[in-house]
Parts: sequence; structure tokens; C-alpha cells
Amino acid sequence: MTTPPNPDLEYITAAAAAALDEGRRRLDSATTAAQFSEAERDVLGKRSALATLNTLLGRAPQADRKAAGAAIHAALVALREFAAELSGDWEARRREERISAERLDLTEYSAGPALPPLPGTRRGIGHLHLVTQTRDELEDTFVAMGFTVAEGPEAETDWYNFEALNMPPAHPARGMWDTLYLRLGPPESVLLRTHTSPVQIRLMESGQLPIYSVMPGRCYRRDTPDARHLPVFHQIEGLVVDEGITFGDMAGVIESFTTAFFGPDIHSRLRPSYFPFTEPSAEFEVTCPICSGSGCRTCSGSGWIELGGCGMVDPNVFAAVHVDSEKYSGFAFGFGIDRLAQVRAELSDMRHLLDNDVRFLTQF
Ligand code: PHE
Repeated sequence: MTTPPNPDLEYITAAAAAALDEGRRRLDSATTAAQFSEAERDVLGKRSALATLNTLLGRAPQADRKAAGAAIHAALVALREFAAELSGDWEARRREERISAERLDLTEYSAGPALPPLPGTRRGIGHLHLVTQTRDELEDTFVAMGFTVAEGPEAETDWYNFEALNMPPAHPARGMWDTLYLRLGPPESVLLRTHTSPVQIRLMESGQLPIYSVMPGRCYRRDTPDARHLPVFHQIEGLVVDEGITFGDMAGVIESFTTAFFGPDIHSRLRPSYFPFTEPSAEFEVTCPICSGSGCRTCSGSGWIELGGCGMVDPNVFAAVHVDSEKYSGFAFGFGIDRLAQVRAELSDMRHLLDNDVRFLTQF
């Protein structure tokens, strides 16, 4: 319908009725909330057919204007009512559309909920390090023999690590331990313990006798790491102090421990040695657990492996901690846990213990 220059009542009434029909059709045919909003704007907004018709009123004949205006207004009201009825539904649809657009799909298959969720990747839970396992086993063996477990600090004073162990300042035997000193207090007064023997001193100093204890722990020496040495390693120390303790008791405890820990085929033997804190002193050896004594590479064909040191507590050590050496006697022993782990697991190089290579770690 082309717009005449001076539209009369008849034209305007017909045009308003057509705009109302067309408006209803537009509103009704929207299939999304967005389409409905667009239709609302088109049929009820400033540029809608009815709004345009309103602007033509001024050109209608004077007598027709009132009735024509009323016809436009009636069409507008009817269309608004129609739109309002539909818009309630569209409001609800719009909310749903927004929610589903904002929805985060957290299922692993985007194909839909019919599929089961992915199983996920199971991570290994890991296990204790070979050295820790060995230490725990050693503790268990000694606890079963009636020993208690004691611990001491890794940073020690010169007194505990050397002096109370019968090594006064400048004693030549101090050279048996390459020491790492800490910059704390006067020079060379605080150090990283070079062995677990200072824990003996702490135990005896506490004055609670008798003592049947083992003392595992980390030790430090200024050594270059190689196949058989680590600058950070572990020892376990044993100390027995009671009335009437003899060298024979010591030999018996070491033999009982050896068979309990390694099995009935493995035995121990003692060879004379020297430590400033024990007198007499010995080195103890065990049957090579790899070849059971027949001789192999690990034991250099001897059938024996040197494990650690031991001896009767020196009276000077008792004096330093105010234990009456007329009444009490005792023995001590100590050996390397890492070294023991190396022998038992037949490790060619001790440095594997520090590499943290899972291919190595998972073997134990
Ligand atoms: N502490 C000594 C060392 O590290 C070992 C030892 C302990 C020797 C107890 C005798 C008695 O070499």
C-alpha cells in the first residue's frame, strides 16, 4: 500500500488494522527470545508502522484526525497487550537461554552424558627411600633385642662430637673425621656431627642408667662423593652401659644382631682397631651377604665385609659425663646405614642413593 499525500480516516484505519495484524504475526513467529525482542522493537518502537502512521496524522483531513488517532492508538494498545502476553513466556525462555549459554561443561566427554566419565590417571603413591627402609629395619631388629631408640641434633658442639669422646683440642685422632664447621660462635666450636657418637654423650649425660639404646641419624663429613663415600650419610650407634658389662657381651650382641638382621648363615667377627672413645676397640666384620662367605667382588674375595667400629667405653668418656667407671662398664658400636644398604642391594655406586632417579628408586 503506497502512502497517499493526505491520508484519510479510511486509509489510516485500514493501515492501523494491517499494522496490528502484521505486528501480531511478527511477535508470534519469533522462535528465540532475541528474535522476540527484535520483533517487539520493530512493531512497537519509534520506527514501527504504527509510529509512522502517527506522524501522518498531521496531514489527514481535520475532521478525520480524532477518529484516525483513536484507531492508531487502539491498534497500538492491542499490539502492546498481545506482546505483553507473549513476553512473560519469553522472559522465562530468555533466562533459560542465558543459563544454558553460560553453562560450563565439566564432563570429560562433550558427546553427552550417556558416556561414562573417563577413569582418570592413577598416580603412583611412592614409598620410603632404600636408606629409610634400611634404618627402619635396623631399628626394628634392635628394638626386638630390647634396645630403645634415641636421637640427637645434627649440628653439634665440639664438646659432644670430640672432646667428651676423649679427644681434647688438637688431639691427632680428630683427623679421622674430616669435619664441616659452622660459622656459629668462636671458630670451630660448632660443627655438623661427623658420627652419631655424640648422642652417646647426651644419653649418658642425662644420668639415667642403665642404657640399652641405639641412635640412628644423619652425619656429615668433608668428603668428595665417590662410589663408596657420601659427604652426607647415615650411621646407627649402639650403647650399653650397666654393671658388669664385658667385651664378651659386646661380641654376643653384635653376633645376635648379625644373624637376626641378615639371617642364620651370616656371622660376625672382631678385629683389633683403634677409636679414642673405646678401649679396647675393634672393627667388626660380617660374612659377605652377597656370596655367603665364599668370596666375590663385593668382599674382594675375602668372604668378609667390614661393617663398623666398636669397643668398651673408655673410662675417660665416663669421667666426662660423670658416670662412675668403678661401678659401671659398657660398650658402643657404630656403622654406616648407607654402606649396609649398598652391600645388601649390591649397588655399584653409593651416589645412586642421592640421584633420585625413579628408575633406581622403584627397584626397592
Ligand atoms: N663413631 C665411630 C665412627 O664414626 C664408630 C664407632 C662407634 C666406633 C662406636 C666405636 C664405637 O667411625
